[in-house]
Amino acid sequence: MIEIKNVTVAYQTQTNQSIFVLDDVSTTVETGQWVSIIGPSGSGKTSFLKLIGGLLVPAKGTVVIDEKNIYQMKENQKKSFRHTKVSFVYQQFRLLPQFSVLENVMLPLIPYNKRSLIQKKAIQIIEKIGLSHRMNHLPSELSGGEQQRVAIARALITDPEILLCDEPTGNLDFVNRDNLLMLLEEIHQDGHTIILATHDEVVANKGQRIIEIADGTLREKELHHD
Ligand SMILES: Nc1ncnc2c1ncn2[C@@H]1O[C@H](COP(=O)(O)OP(=O)(O)OP(=O)(O)O)[C@@H](O)[C@H]1O
Ligand SMILES: [Mg+2]
Repeated sequence: MIEIKNVTVAYQTQTNQSIFVLDDVSTTVETGQWVSIIGPSGSGKTSFLKLIGGLLVPAKGTVVIDEKNIYQMKENQKKSFRHTKVSFVYQQFRLLPQFSVLENVMLPLIPYNKRSLIQKKAIQIIEKIGLSHRMNHLPSELSGGEQQRVAIARALITDPEILLCDEPTGNLDFVNRDNLLMLLEEIHQDGHTIILATHDEVVANKGQRIIEIADGTLREKELHHD
């Protein structure tokens, strides 16, 4: 469970002004829930994901994940948090261009496991995302939708409890978007918590909950299921 309590997030500008992105917000996300984050550009969606991912220290308040305050962890706990609890998926895929699909998916585990073991796991995940026939291709040889599926495979190889997706369909056409949503549905059914920022209403409505960020606050929105 993710518990955000009375969190304020502010950025300091070059001219020493504070920009408040989240102002004393609180919310709880149950383990296994799929939550969509919406709101205008600049409202704080990416900041909200970073906050949960342990990458943005709040000015005030606490972020507690599975009973651990993630901003008060010791160095070794922090490492294990980043390694096992959360993974990010980005709009721009962020695959390493010089490495094959297989190598990209293996990367997050390289410091932790034996290569042969990682390779076995990576091959299984690549099968799951339906790209076995592209295993030894470079990212530049794949379509956008295929690249995003590889990015999801790379995020899943550490078996994270929480998948943080920042506009993952922003660079995809409708067909690839819908394929990716089907993949996310499977991942959700496997028990992962999904927190997904999006500008796309269709994507937002795939979640079990929609949280809108506006003017520094969080607001629960109605879902529209078709
Ligand atoms: N490193 C930073 N330093 C200063 N201000 C920042 C920084 N990062 C983000 N901001 C500001 O914080 C606000 C929220 O940014 P954030 O990236 O979270 O918005 P967003 O909702 O993800 O927007 P978009 O939909 O365009 O991706 C914006 O006004 C942005 O200018
Ligand atoms: Mg953003």
